[in-house]
Amino acid sequence: MNIFKKLFSKILSKKRTCMENEILEEPEIIFELIKKYVNNDYTINVSLPSKTDKIAIIASGSSYHCAAIAANFIRENVHCPAQAYYASEISLLKNFDVDDTTLYIFISQSGETSDTNTALNIIAEKTDNTLAVTNTKNSTLYINSKYKMLTYAGKEKSIASTKAMCAQTYCILLIAAKLLQSKFIPARTFIDELLCVPEYITNAFNKREEIKKYSNILINYENAAILASGMFYPLAKEGALKIKETSYINTTAYPTGEFLHGHIAILNKKCAVIILADSNNLEYVKKILSSINKNYKTDILIFQSEQNFNITDAYIIPILSENDIEFLFANMVLMQLLAFETAKSLLRNVDKPQGLSKIVK
Ligand code: AGP
Repeated sequence: MNIFKKLFSKILSKKRTCMENEILEEPEIIFELIKKYVNNDYTINVSLPSKTDKIAIIASGSSYHCAAIAANFIRENVHCPAQAYYASEISLLKNFDVDDTTLYIFISQSGETSDTNTALNIIAEKTDNTLAVTNTKNSTLYINSKYKMLTYAGKEKSIASTKAMCAQTYCILLIAAKLLQSKFIPARTFIDELLCVPEYITNAFNKREEIKKYSNILINYENAAILASGMFYPLAKEGALKIKETSYINTTAYPTGEFLHGHIAILNKKCAVIILADSNNLEYVKKILSSINKNYKTDILIFQSEQNFNITDAYIIPILSENDIEFLFANMVLMQLLAFETAKSLLRNVDKPQGLSKIVK
């Protein structure tokens, strides 16, 4: 590194970026959401239509990843059909079925993303069952939706969404809790887990030094793959987006098992591998590690939930989580920090990546 780069990096490391501040605000934001939306008797303080048979969640970018995590969670745990849609694809469909028993949830930090608002206009012509989950009161999305839920994340200045994405995900999980209650399915244990989210995030902050170490390895790569399964797969897509946006490292997410169906060949080029290993995808993780050991050379980072799984030749960050909610929020924050530390080490303009703007009109 030449002397000017060294000096610049020193100056930069002293001045906190908005992205870093915004990540660090997350536990406090979730505390506020608990105060606003979770009543003492564990009821959830959000208005929803009285009859909901299906859920469609529509959004763009990070907000779409939040939609996909939530749709996965709702299908599995609320036993209600739920599907996430890219907002930009809705207007391209010849027939997008709209009916009165589906709740259409629109997620947007800004409430001004044109793709998401166009999708809302198309759907709102046919039904009143529209709910905006947004960080911006009185935004177009907020005004034009019948039901509303604010994410109270405060102004997000960094182009890469971190605290807003975290708050949106939390809000949608509160909606899932409300849906469980409306179906008379016990939700207390799940809500207890949600109440612990600020603590889960704070615990993840304690792993920052390990993240820094791996980010100093990641900067040597032009490509990276993130592998995960179930509702953690859209989370991996979010991690990939964060790394791409801030570091410009070409990062792609794959469902863990699917990676073995040919995609693994990308490791013939220099490509870092990051794996979210929960107890469900362990067998695939073992197969992938054995194939990497035999055929390829790369630096692997594993966010590992399973205690009884010994791995060598990889950087391990243990997240010995009691439940999926902890694994979800811990990984969300750790991947945000990984993107941040990597971009910072590469001397990127973390808050204003080249060619991007905060609202896509
Ligand atoms: C996220 O880091 C991005 N900046 C981008 O994908 C963003 O989430 C997307 O454009 C949607 O924005 P919105 O939430 O304001 O609608």
